[in-house]
Amino acid sequence: MKGIILHGGRGTRLRPLTHTGPKQLIPIANKPISQYVLESLRDSGIKDIAIVLGNIFPEKVKEYYGDGSKFNVKITYIYQGKPLGIAHAIGLCKEFVGNEKFVVHLGDDLIRGGIKSFVEEFEKSDYDGMVLLCKVTNPQRFGVAQFDSEGKLVKLVEKPKKPPSNYALVGVYFLTPFIFHIIGKLKPSWRGELEITEALQKLLNNGKKLHYKFVNGWWKDTGTPEDILESNRLILDELKPEVKGTVEDLKSVQGRVSIGANSIIKRSAVVRGPVVIGENSIIESEAYVGPYTSIGNNVVIRSGEIENSIVMDNCYIEVEGRITESLIGPHSTIVTNSRDKPKGYRFIIGEKSKVFT
Ligand code: TTP
Repeated sequence: MKGIILHGGRGTRLRPLTHTGPKQLIPIANKPISQYVLESLRDSGIKDIAIVLGNIFPEKVKEYYGDGSKFNVKITYIYQGKPLGIAHAIGLCKEFVGNEKFVVHLGDDLIRGGIKSFVEEFEKSDYDGMVLLCKVTNPQRFGVAQFDSEGKLVKLVEKPKKPPSNYALVGVYFLTPFIFHIIGKLKPSWRGELEITEALQKLLNNGKKLHYKFVNGWWKDTGTPEDILESNRLILDELKPEVKGTVEDLKSVQGRVSIGANSIIKRSAVVRGPVVIGENSIIESEAYVGPYTSIGNNVVIRSGEIENSIVMDNCYIEVEGRITESLIGPHSTIVTNSRDKPKGYRFIIGEKSKVFT
């Protein structure tokens, strides 16, 4: 079976972070979102993977993943450019897929526990397609499944005002090359996209076997800052503590904390897990790093408190007060130079920003 990762899209809900790179490369617990996806495919036995690129700095994706050998997979890049829809992106992969069954994974969807058992089931089956469903409280945001009285999937509706169920369509689609006949005949929807829900609906209408499975653990679509911070919490909840750097005073570190090589936690600093800190970073004596924070490589926290946040590589923070629920893009500087001491800050800031509070 082959795999496809969708790495395009507009990423408007994650601006300004998506002004300098695709959203799928935003790190959660110090790993790009799409790397979780790639590893999930690989760990399901799928080594032949196409990455569909959009037009937001696609070269950054190629630079990060290369030919895939670092990750033990073989990568083919397919250029979509403008986001003309998920079904459009899949349609571009016809030649790559050939005659094999395949799985399409959105590059910004995370599924706890991966998809190995689903891949195995689909591979053995005679299904024409298989979708994953997850119970959600806000189905209006997603493609939603409608069942008949016997529990048979009869309809898929995109972002319905009146959802027929609470089961959302997860961004992982198991397909056979038959889908290319359907995609070839699709017309753009009102939003100008070739819609995957419409393609799947047509499979059903053609009497094809579209099977469904439920995702039992958590599933996160990481389209908004809140989703990213929630995913960060979910992943840090399962963090394995590990210290490769230096902790000057062991009392500084409480709970589950992972500290990368050459990072230093200075005496009298406080790091309260779950927290991940990358390589070559320094948490200075007057700093507090609280639960559910991911700190990248080459970061200096000179002073201030930070929790429930993601600080990307090469940042410098020297504040009075507390930073919470923030996404801080790489190469950013946040410094307090006023005498007033506000209680807290919440930032979503893009790459190379300078903030003086
Ligand atoms: P969305 O999150 O719906 O797309 P977006 O990035 O345009 O979002 P926003 O509303 O913030 O502007 O897309 C879901 C996933 O599919 C995401 O990983 C991007 C990918 N995608 C493509 O690769 N090509 C496309 O044409 C579209 C529409 C999405």
